[in-house]
Amino acid sequence: MAGDKTKNIMHYDTVNLDDEKNALVIIDQTQLPGRVEILHLTELEDIFEAIYLLKVRGAPAIGVAAAIGVYLTAKKIKQENFDAFYAEFKKAKDRLAASRPTAVNLFWALDRMEKVVLDNKDKPVEQIKKLLHDEAVEIREEDIRVCRAIGEYGLTLIKDGDGILTHCNAGQLATVKYGTALAPIHLGVEKGMNFKVFTDETRPLLQGARLSAFELHSNGVDTTVICDNMASQVMKNGWVQAIFVGCDRVAANGDVCNKIGTSAVAILAKHYGIPFYVCAPTSTIDMEIAHGDDIPIEERPPHEVTEMWYKERMAPKGVKVYNPAFDVSENQLVTAIITEFGIVRAPYAEGLKEIFRKKAEAAGK
Ligand code: MRU
Repeated sequence: MAGDKTKNIMHYDTVNLDDEKNALVIIDQTQLPGRVEILHLTELEDIFEAIYLLKVRGAPAIGVAAAIGVYLTAKKIKQENFDAFYAEFKKAKDRLAASRPTAVNLFWALDRMEKVVLDNKDKPVEQIKKLLHDEAVEIREEDIRVCRAIGEYGLTLIKDGDGILTHCNAGQLATVKYGTALAPIHLGVEKGMNFKVFTDETRPLLQGARLSAFELHSNGVDTTVICDNMASQVMKNGWVQAIFVGCDRVAANGDVCNKIGTSAVAILAKHYGIPFYVCAPTSTIDMEIAHGDDIPIEERPPHEVTEMWYKERMAPKGVKVYNPAFDVSENQLVTAIITEFGIVRAPYAEGLKEIFRKKAEAAGK
């Protein structure tokens, strides 16, 4: 079903659960900005493929989609005996966990769903299914609250009229609502503020040109698309007062892993003395990983570089292609990490631990 193109993209749900149709509902982001196509997915393999092919993408959105996907699959399991049910659940969980390796939100959400199953093994399977439903809905609702909080904290770091540069899409299309890196901009717009946003096109999959530009432009934000290699010039011109990016995984030492090309932006920001802010919900922070070098980096197929956006293949056949989807910016390049529990500055090892202390306190633990 195609959506209404004239509607502001902010009015669409990026990821949702349709209880009547027992479906994961997403906007097919591979079709943007040309077509707003809404997909209703009911089968595990279709949900796996939607994540792998980036129909739904962005760390928080992937986590929510996986939680809904594993619930929908669990709901269909026929076995009423716990062990048999759990074995089937685990198969579905492992399948979805194999869809993409870098964004830790995927594993975080699936582990939360598995914990619901294991914590309730004494209950009838029908009841466990209901609890899985409620957990998936809560993971989704939580994402909205978390992104809003990140947006409010981020907004304290910028002022009306600022020029902001962003890389990839860490906006509403990457979350359930608001986004992370674009949340301060969307919340600022709600309050009547204006910003001039530069979106790196973000080779090779063009999430900046296709998605961030579409989302910001659709929400009435002054938006300029630049090729990735123009960021230095735009910064040199004095047009950028702050850089906001999202991330897929933060290591315990504050190294941040985000879309390929982010580290180049971080290095340029340091050169030009521009603050480089990374927006990260705690679901993106992996305290089990000590150092950015230990974060698994996804490598994607060569055709995304050589063919995908061209009428004809643009590189010689048989040539080698290196297509890493993410890179790591070392913590020394990061001005601050913005979480839903506050803004963290160096030293990050201490600051991130403090954020998790606040999180535990808020949960009454
Ligand atoms: O490959 P993608 O499009 O899933 O990569 C997305 C990013 O790198 C985002 O910046 C990150 O996931 C944060 S989204 C709030």
